[in-house]
Amino acid sequence: MNAHRSGVFACALAAALAATAMRPALAQEQQAPPRQHWSFAGPFGQYDQEQLQRGFKIYREVCSNCHSLKLLAFRNLTDPGGPGFTAAQAAAIAATFQVTDGPNDQGQMFQRPGKIADYFPPPFPNEQAARAALGGKLPPDMSVLALARSYERGFPWFIFDAFTMYQEEGPDYIHAILNGYTDPPAGFNLPPGAQYNKYFPGHAIGMPKPLSDGQVEYTDGTPTTVDQYGRDVAAFLMWAGEPKLDTRKRVGFQVILYLIVLTGLLYFTKKRVWHAAEHDLDPSAPAAPPEPRPPTEYARS
Ligand code: HEC
Repeated sequence: MNAHRSGVFACALAAALAATAMRPALAQEQQAPPRQHWSFAGPFGQYDQEQLQRGFKIYREVCSNCHSLKLLAFRNLTDPGGPGFTAAQAAAIAATFQVTDGPNDQGQMFQRPGKIADYFPPPFPNEQAARAALGGKLPPDMSVLALARSYERGFPWFIFDAFTMYQEEGPDYIHAILNGYTDPPAGFNLPPGAQYNKYFPGHAIGMPKPLSDGQVEYTDGTPTTVDQYGRDVAAFLMWAGEPKLDTRKRVGFQVILYLIVLTGLLYFTKKRVWHAAEHDLDPSAPAAPPEPRPPTEYARS
């Protein structure tokens, strides 16, 4: 290694060590969410359709009272790789929502039941109305929440993550928030209207504990615990944020396979093209005449 390269290496190492040294301060700020098992993790991960349906139920019955899902349309519920509702089911779900439409002939906006082509309507008409109803706190839109939230994994984990393909920080975080309500530790100064949550940055969260055991009914025998609810709704929100994950992983795998085959072909092509140069042969020399072949049975007869 020459002097310049070792200098760069030393700088990178120093920066990594400095980042590690700063970690305890961050760790106090936010505790790392425990990792969950996700069907969509890893290079071959796929969504679990039944889990997405359960997760949608949780969103519909609980979260949609406060959190909007503006980028999702009812028709998306029928998309391949999603919760797999039929068009009739999606239309029935849409009809249970009230959507603002208009203006009508009198110039008035009006409410009507949702149609399959509509987007999920927000629970509050505007940000101010949401804040007024929720003690000044704003529930974030959930369309890409599972992709937008992550946490500091620190050195050296972020390097390993690139190899293990860990991309589930968002759903791990959502699951952790829903399961992270505890009593504040002694001496913690909880602002009025806030709850203590182990995994929320700063710990004082403006969202009242939204789920408790047995709150949402499951008809397929899945346990109705907050732990399970958290996993299901986080999986649903992951799908809402990245509906094409299945395709991305499948196509990605095919592309890598193609590139591996192509690399092999290129290697042998290169060997062939450079054969003369590598063996010091004269490429302009006429090729040796072919060996005379022994006459075949056919030729003799
Ligand atoms: C009563 C209204 C209400 C309900 C119901 C509710 N939330 Fe919230 N949620 C909030 C508010 C308000 C905040 C913002 C909290 C803050 O900023 O302190 C929030 C924040 C969050 C956050 C943290 C977001 C961030 O910025 O990191 C997550 C995750 C979350 N909610 C998930 C859910 C899920 C999942 C459900 C359904 C099971 C749900 N919420 C139901 C009001 C609600």
